Amino acid sequence: MIIGIPKEIMHDEARVACTPETVEKFVKDGFEVLVEKSAGDGALFCDDEYIQAGAKVIDNPQEIYDKAEIILKVKEPLFNEKLGKHEVDMMHKGQYLITFIHPASPVNHEMVKNLSAKGVTAITLDGIPRISRAQNLDALTSMSTCAGYKGILMAANHLTRFLPQMFTAVGKIEPAKVMVIGVGVAGLQALATAKRLGAITYAADIRPMAAENAGSLGAKVTDTGVPAELAVGEGGYALRLPDDVLVVERENLKETIQEMDIVFCSALIPGKVAPIIITEEMVKGMKRGSVIVDISIDQGGNCELTPKGGIETKHGVTIMGVKNIPGELPTSSTWMFSNNMYNLVKYLVKDGKIELDRSDEVVAKSLVCIDGELVHAGAREAMGL
Ligand code: NAI
Repeated sequence: MIIGIPKEIMHDEARVACTPETVEKFVKDGFEVLVEKSAGDGALFCDDEYIQAGAKVIDNPQEIYDKAEIILKVKEPLFNEKLGKHEVDMMHKGQYLITFIHPASPVNHEMVKNLSAKGVTAITLDGIPRISRAQNLDALTSMSTCAGYKGILMAANHLTRFLPQMFTAVGKIEPAKVMVIGVGVAGLQALATAKRLGAITYAADIRPMAAENAGSLGAKVTDTGVPAELAVGEGGYALRLPDDVLVVERENLKETIQEMDIVFCSALIPGKVAPIIITEEMVKGMKRGSVIVDISIDQGGNCELTPKGGIETKHGVTIMGVKNIPGELPTSSTWMFSNNMYNLVKYLVKDGKIELDRSDEVVAKSLVCIDGELVHAGAREAMGL
């Protein structure tokens, strides 16, 4: 089969779907791999390395879309300004597309309908279920790991003081305090990173299991005051809290938040708008110079004042709503992403062709469209179909 790796066209996107290392593995497995010229530059993988790994480097992206049976990408199909053409229009019937599509998100509805109408078979990485046998396919978890680590480094960079405790000739410097709200994949990595940098760590999560994990990483757990029966739903996932319960949570966390130097927000209920945990009033009560890094911004953010992309200072607090944090760590995030891609393709290809077993949870939850039909449950619900 022929795999095509186009260069990502989203502004400032430095990641790419394959590294030379995974290209080599694909080639050994009998695939032909076409990589767009300079596709790996942003993540510091150069064309020569791809050629050495056995790929063919091609200048014209349309040629890749024409020849490849499987297109692997990082971001959803977008309008290619340079070519004056949408990436969906560069694709053809029967072609497979594997990437992050976020098909339920309203901004993607038209694109997803067009993909389906084209007869493309699209698989979205955000649909891969978080089950043990799918762990090595789960690019969303990989990207959350990157966001947890890099998010803390970015916040530390904006802080005007040291993170670790220090004993200097002029006296002792107290360590900074870092709180993580929502200790899932990203939050746990954020806690571990803050701890390694020497901060005193605090954590809050409505799921008792998550709070316990945070405690085992050495964080002081702040009780949210939310009863477990309201917080945990089917499969152990968090539930969206009613407004009056969120008020209780805010009240319980307020005092700790006010003492913090960094607050890392990663509270999320899958497929829902992120809960507002820090209100403007709470920001007003925080220390001047403290930093909020709100990585739930794609789902609306956990802080009422988070800018939709970028960094702003409000009431003396630096609030970061940077959207593509894994893209700020392109070599490592690409390495993780490309290994997830390799594992997923290997999972789907049997005897030299893709076989989609729709009764398999991995396929059922990640398939967006096939044979001209839009099948993704979340997208259909969001579109009212
Ligand atoms: P996750 O589902 O593993 O963790 C979310 C955690 O939030 C869960 O432990 C859940 O119990 C907790 N939570 C839910 N409601 C809460 C509440 N009211 N109070 C306290 N905790 C609550 O999610 P993951 O993978 O860690 O991602 C977190 C967020 O980061 C998501 O919004 C995701 O889209 C975003 N993200 C952002 C990136 C960026 O570049 N900005 C990159 C990767 C992820």
